[in-house]
Amino acid sequence: MAQIHEYDAVIVGAGGAGLRAALEAGRRVKTAVVSKLYPTRSHTGAAQGGMCAALANVEEDSWEWHAFDTVKGSDFLADQDAVDIMCKEAVDSVLELERMGLPFNRTPEGRIDQRRFGGHTSNHGEAPVKRACYAADRTGHMILQTLFQQCTKFGVEFYNEFFVLDLLMADGVCSGIVAYELATGRLHIFHCKSVLFATGGYGKMFKITSNAHTLTGDGPGVVYRAGLPLEDMEFYQFHPTGLYRLGILLSEAARGEGGILRNGEGERFMERYAPTIKDLAPRDMVSRAEFFEIKEGRGAGPDKDCILLDLTEVDPEVIEKKLPDITEFARTYLDVDPVKEGVPIVPTAHYAMGGIPTNVQAEVLADHTGAVVQGFYAAGECACVSVHGANRLGTNSLLDIVVFGRRGGIAMAEYASTHPLPPLPEGAEKASEKWIAALCDGGSEESTASIRATLQDEMMDKASVVRTEDSLSSVLSTITELRKRYEVCRVKDRSKIFNTELVEHIELGFLLDMAEALVVAARARTESRGGHYREDHQMREDDHWLKHSFITRTAAGDTKLHHKDVTMGRYEPVERKY
Ligand code: FUM
Repeated sequence: MAQIHEYDAVIVGAGGAGLRAALEAGRRVKTAVVSKLYPTRSHTGAAQGGMCAALANVEEDSWEWHAFDTVKGSDFLADQDAVDIMCKEAVDSVLELERMGLPFNRTPEGRIDQRRFGGHTSNHGEAPVKRACYAADRTGHMILQTLFQQCTKFGVEFYNEFFVLDLLMADGVCSGIVAYELATGRLHIFHCKSVLFATGGYGKMFKITSNAHTLTGDGPGVVYRAGLPLEDMEFYQFHPTGLYRLGILLSEAARGEGGILRNGEGERFMERYAPTIKDLAPRDMVSRAEFFEIKEGRGAGPDKDCILLDLTEVDPEVIEKKLPDITEFARTYLDVDPVKEGVPIVPTAHYAMGGIPTNVQAEVLADHTGAVVQGFYAAGECACVSVHGANRLGTNSLLDIVVFGRRGGIAMAEYASTHPLPPLPEGAEKASEKWIAALCDGGSEESTASIRATLQDEMMDKASVVRTEDSLSSVLSTITELRKRYEVCRVKDRSKIFNTELVEHIELGFLLDMAEALVVAARARTESRGGHYREDHQMREDDHWLKHSFITRTAAGDTKLHHKDVTMGRYEPVERKY
């Protein structure tokens, strides 16, 4: 028997978006946060370089310039109403965090300091601008700690190390979730008036990633299995500076502080690809440039398979003070001292632009027409609002989680205050109970780890920075094959207490779902835009493809695609030159 809990609002995920939502909901209604991890271990803690807002503390700036950069950076796929909201609300969002006690770096006058990041410019692309507010290279860590303290202060209740398995719906209205408690193996039903998913991304489908082991698409996976759509899944961002072979993030702030990318010939190659802002071009362009430098034989290192991040001309004091963590990562993991020599890097799977479709109040969309699922919300990386379109600008993600986490928390609390508790569906936990029992029933030669390793290798080779119809159809066949192997795979560990084999196996199922959705949507989009680059369709096709894709999985296991027009505004698509 599952244990039943009753709340007004339940938030799944305790990263920045979940905690920011919980803070608003918790001030208004009885709120719980259900999280797979202890909150301060959430992946927001790994976000390094900053959170942008046009404070104009260091250089002239305006929220409209920020909005323009975001839309242009998105390759014109972002919804411009949502972008305007985010860029306007950015300023207050940063000041609010400052008042909560977040220790931002300061200018000599005591204002919040700001630095450069890729794609952020003044006056509509004229020159790089200092817009990213930061706490050394630990900005996400500081946001997470600050928000967790505030949630504790306002009495939000936490269920830590609880893994979401199912979304409960009664007559089309969301009525709660089912979660698995890692410490005991028990199932819990969270019966409530509103649910918000803030479960993060799914970078673990790729071999080289900056994402933590736990980023497996759990929230979007539950949504996809419930027959609800996912939006723009083909757009996945590769960050240009992941530590060689490991993928660990080396913040773009390194280039913001003056770092330079060099190929194996010592050339500052970004001058050829983006003559105006060079190494601070948007991530899709830099990652692609790196990919082609390596492919065309100009890579660095003994195997010519990486690029060098050169910080040797940056003042060592700046490196130690403003980039302490990444300096330590290079020293610890590669035995390379960034003060003295170039750091080997490669593009690393970093951020999902696509996810659970929402409107600007973070209400989840039931379909491509804009109808909403009553009582169900999503925010942060697992959601798609869409402010990042086909390519996110660095530091817009910490901003997105705070702005739309806050909006979602308010909206779900208002909904919960004006609606009765919906009934629970009959046998609410039965499907999850049956699922877990089946996974633990019988034996198999197959192992979760080997299926996952094949998925990660194939996705990296065939569906990452550069794609073609051949590579995508090949990886889709592999995913179909892996799904069959997954179906018969059973976990060997049958214990109830912290059964991490079971958890990883369930996570792999979600990763397979995410990979399928990504590849199907990527095959259908016969153009190149932002993070989706098709070597066989190299042009952006605005006449045909200025639209979002919505993918659903039917009960029979087929996928269906629909499209929705991009919400335009002040900025008409132009050629993306930097
Ligand atoms: O490079 C970085 O510090 C990452 C920031 C981001 O993804 O926004």
